[in-house]
Amino acid sequence: MIIKSADFVTSAVRPVQYPESSLPEIAFAGRSNVGKSSLINTLVNRKRLVKTSSTPGRTQLINFFIINQTFYLVDLPGYGYARVPASVQKKWGPMVERYLKERTGLQAVTLIMDIRRTPRAEERNFIDWLQLYRIPTIPVLTKVDKLSKTRQNKQVGLIASALDIDREQLTLFSAKSRQGKDRLWTLLKDHIPGTE
Ligand code: GTP
Ligand code: MG
Repeated sequence: MIIKSADFVTSAVRPVQYPESSLPEIAFAGRSNVGKSSLINTLVNRKRLVKTSSTPGRTQLINFFIINQTFYLVDLPGYGYARVPASVQKKWGPMVERYLKERTGLQAVTLIMDIRRTPRAEERNFIDWLQLYRIPTIPVLTKVDKLSKTRQNKQVGLIASALDIDREQLTLFSAKSRQGKDRLWTLLKDHIPGTE
């Protein structure tokens, strides 16, 4: 994908705050601190388009970015991090759920997971929920630079069976080495009408 432009559009909590749009849109979801914002920056070749942080819970709003004036990438707040106050956690569920249910241009959700962590019911339930709403899901394992090839292989097997999917469906990614960037764009493009 050739990135001619990548711009922040707006942050939103409620649907009235979403940008008015007839463009296709891809959302990025995953646990807090997993590397969602870093992954988007890597995809669009920008260091700081999306704010990243070593402190979990950095992204607390739904952030919309427009790419090449033709589609949106949407950074969703992370879920399930214990250090985030319960009051904040409670607002996230409904905020993200409403977005996923109501956003008409949404074409697919990229579900980002840390390759070092075997997913639990939380992820499995989220995938089931997305399937129920007929939202295509693209599973990505990130931070692969943190493991040796041997341990990557082992984790891919464990994660695929925990998610009940084929290992070939998992895309390995690193925001540090940019591994997996081209493969992920190929998968994303299938869901973005009008891009070749
Ligand atoms: P929240 O917005 O808080 O939910 O986090 P996030 O999922 O957007 O994560 P973010 O991109 O802010 O990254 C969290 C931390 O992980 C930062 O310190 C990043 O530098 C680091 N990180 C993200 N991706 C990678 C990666 O592929 N490899 C390595 N080594 N570190 C990464
Ligand atoms: Mg973030």
